Parts: sequence; C-alpha cells; structure tokens
Amino acid sequence: MPSELELQGFLDQAVTAAKLAGALQKERLWSDFAVSFKGEVDLVTEVDRSCEELIVATLKGAFPEHSFLAEENSYQSGTLPYKWIVDPLDGTTNYAHGFPWFCVSIALEHQGEVLVGVIYHCMMDELFTALKGGGAFLNGNRIQVSNRQPLRRSLLATGFPYDRTRDNENNFGNFVNFQLSARAVRRAGAAALDLAYVAAGRLDGYWECKLKPWDVAAGSLLVAEAGGRLTNHAGLPYSVYDHRILASNGAIHTEMLEVLNRTEQG
Ligand code: IPD
Ligand code: CA
Ligand code: CA
Repeated sequence: MPSELELQGFLDQAVTAAKLAGALQKERLWSDFAVSFKGEVDLVTEVDRSCEELIVATLKGAFPEHSFLAEENSYQSGTLPYKWIVDPLDGTTNYAHGFPWFCVSIALEHQGEVLVGVIYHCMMDELFTALKGGGAFLNGNRIQVSNRQPLRRSLLATGFPYDRTRDNENNFGNFVNFQLSARAVRRAGAAALDLAYVAAGRLDGYWECKLKPWDVAAGSLLVAEAGGRLTNHAGLPYSVYDHRILASNGAIHTEMLEVLNRTEQG
C-alpha cells in the first residue's frame, strides 16, 4: 500500500491531467472537430483522442512504470502494480452534439483496488476527488451522499447501452419500473458524472448495465468515500469490472435492489 504522501502525489498528477483535458474540451466544444463511428451509434471525436493523449502523456511522464487502461487506446503495461483507468471524455454523444454535459474521469488502481478518483466537469468548473480512506471532495470541500428516503421521494439517474437496439439487456424494463417507483429518473449521458452526483448528494441513486471500468472507476470510489453503497444488481459487492452497477445513498439501496430484481428475474 502506498504512503499518504505517495497517494497525494498520484492525486495531484491526476488533477493536473484532468484539468488539461477539461480545458481542451471547453476550448473545442462548438468548434469544427472530426467525429467518427466506433459502432453503429457509438461515436468517438477527435477531442476524445486528443484528451486521452494529453492525459496518458502527463501521467506517463510522472509515472513511467505504471500501466494504463484507457478507452481510446486500451492497454499499455508497466512494471509496477499500478493501473490508471481513464475515460478521457465521458459523455461523447453529448459532446458531439454540442450538449454541454460531459467530463474527464481518471482513477488509479493498485492490486485490484481503486485508490484515487478524479472527475472533472469543465463546463461547471467542478472537480470531484477521492482518495481511498480519505473522503470525497468537490472543489476541495468534503461531500457526502444524501439521506433521502424512501425511494418514492428520490431522484435517480441511469443510462442505456449503445447496443440497445440489438440486445435485450437494454435497461428499458428497469427504466419503466423506476419511473413508476421514484420521484424522477434522469438520463443526462455521462455515467461518471451520475456517480459524482450521487457522491455529492445531488442524486440519491444510480444504476446502469454494460458499463466499462473507465466509466465507473473514479465515480465508484467517490460514492464509497462519500458514505454511499455500491453493489451489482444481485446485491453482491461491486467491482469496477462488474457488468451491472447500483450506487446509492445507502438508505434506498434495498428498495432499488427490489425494483431491479423485479425486472431482471421476470
Ligand atoms: C457513455 C456514457 C453514458 C452511458 C454509456 C457510456 P462515453 O460513455 O457514460 O452515460 O450511458 O453507457 O458508454 O461513450 O460517452 O464515454
Ligand atoms: Ca464513458
Ligand atoms: Ca469516453
């Protein structure tokens, strides 16, 4: 386990990288950038790739022995048991359409455990940070999950997978059931920000399926460090490599699991 000083050094570099990428996102939004398809509806922009290069170059410069798992360039291995898990631009569909809701997400995993999480929302200049065992912060101020309950008074968020037209695991059934059970459900289009908002108490719960580690690594640490609860949809302890995530303020977790079970078993 790294020392507190080492952890702080990792966090500082992650913040530097996230802010550099955020500045680029802000500068290029609403400009003319190239957009291409990774799948039928799954977009990638020139800005996603430039942000990833910037983040990886910054972190690699500081920690040349570390490994990387980054969305647009996948895996690069290093010699030390540290892995940076990077979503250079979470909310690409929003970005490509000029809808200003997206962020940078950077996490550091050490021997299977996420130790550092940084999410930067440049349009709001909001920086969410967390260190394992050290709490969660928004622009340097401590944050915690809400204590709102029951589910019918709660504000939730979710998202839908890119292959929703081809695969039955499309989250539609869950969406209908939660719309009927909660105060409201939002679909803003950036999973990392949904998690950061649960951590900050702005949302009470969030669920999704078919996410990748880079969507959830930083956000799941933020939720845990803000006092929230994370499981998969079966109620088992959550790993960032899990297929299905449920994150909440803890108070509505059991009710949310019941709703998920209703859809996914039936
Ligand atoms: C996507 C967003 C979206 C979620 C998708 C993700 P991307 O990430 O987080 O909210 O619903 O499942 O893939 O492609 O914008 O980085
Ligand atoms: Ca993403
Ligand atoms: Ca992305």
